[in-house]
Amino acid sequence: MLRKILVSQLRFGMYVHALEGSWFDHPFWRSKFLLTDPADLQALRVSGIKAVWIDAGKGVDVETATPPAAEAPPLGADTVVPLAVPPPVQQCSAKEEMQRATELLKRSRQQVTSVFNEARLGKAVDPQQCQPLVEQISASLARNGSALLSLARLKTKDEYTYMHSVAVCALMVALARQLGLPEDQVHEAGMAGLLHDIGKMAMPLDVLNKPGKLSDDEYAVMRSHPERGHAMLLAAQTSVSDAVLDVCLHHHEKVDGTGYPYRLAGEQISRLARMGAICDVYDAITSNRPYKTAWDASGSLARMAQWHGHFDTQLLHAFVRTVGIYPLGSLVRLQSGRLGVVTEHHPQQLTAPRVKLFYSTRARAAIVPVEMDLSSPQCSDRIVGREDPAAWGFSNLDALWT
Ligand SMILES: [Fe+2]
Repeated sequence: MLRKILVSQLRFGMYVHALEGSWFDHPFWRSKFLLTDPADLQALRVSGIKAVWIDAGKGVDVETATPPAAEAPPLGADTVVPLAVPPPVQQCSAKEEMQRATELLKRSRQQVTSVFNEARLGKAVDPQQCQPLVEQISASLARNGSALLSLARLKTKDEYTYMHSVAVCALMVALARQLGLPEDQVHEAGMAGLLHDIGKMAMPLDVLNKPGKLSDDEYAVMRSHPERGHAMLLAAQTSVSDAVLDVCLHHHEKVDGTGYPYRLAGEQISRLARMGAICDVYDAITSNRPYKTAWDASGSLARMAQWHGHFDTQLLHAFVRTVGIYPLGSLVRLQSGRLGVVTEHHPQQLTAPRVKLFYSTRARAAIVPVEMDLSSPQCSDRIVGREDPAAWGFSNLDALWT
């Protein structure tokens, strides 16, 4: 049952069906979502939106919602609600978003593990369960475009299958926003990222987690995961959009027609599936796997750019703008000879991020870590190139930026 209430009456657990007013003023929200994130509630309160429609059949109703901090007046024609001016999304620095993003990843791990394990047990998947998670990932990225993306790279070998899905979800949301897609498609991209590899739950565990190279037979089995996942989603408890199904089936196609399962080429592959291919590979090569350690983020982008025929070039360029030429955690060398790790991006100045310097190549010795904003007019230093942490023997650079 739909009910119109004031934004001040909103409580956690309510299912927001629609917002009053123009969606275009509030680009990060979808039209329908379960309200669970304090940041979403705060953003709604300062958005300038006066009223929302809630669906009492899908969430708590006004009477049952708790705790009502203050009794809101009934909504009437003469109700006057002051119009707030602040922006709908309170953006913040990567440093400020880190803690929230860390907690969100922890929750994601539990939720995705649960959904995927149901699939492994042969039960029908319920993609609806994933909706709030996609919303929360989307909200984190709206507050800061780098923190969650970068933290999601850091995963252990054991949790790879689950956290890869979360990471690809986040990358898809960020890339879709970079492309200026409407919010319903941004959400769909996130959902596609989250579910693209669900077919891996149909793969034998000894093959899925094999620490060495796969045999030809094992590789043939693994190559069936897009079709197995597609079949799982078709049989899901709640319907899945065609776009999500398409990404699940075609995220291993390559633009030159050498991918699988159908060897589709160019625009035979949907844009969302071409986006999925980029996000999937980037997260795979920048993560620790049973058979190889992660490549550094910046170097991975450079390598992907050289794999001609694999990716859609324009989308790859948009992807680089999304994660930054030097993603958070990248090791860079400055003109002064110092080495540093990227800690913060400036979206308009991708080559002049904030860095934490910790090593002098001239003295060949560690220095007291110091932060420097390369975009500052007072700063005379600049990045002259990326460096490979493995070549320097640095093993714990993540501690410098997480
Ligand atoms: Fe896959």
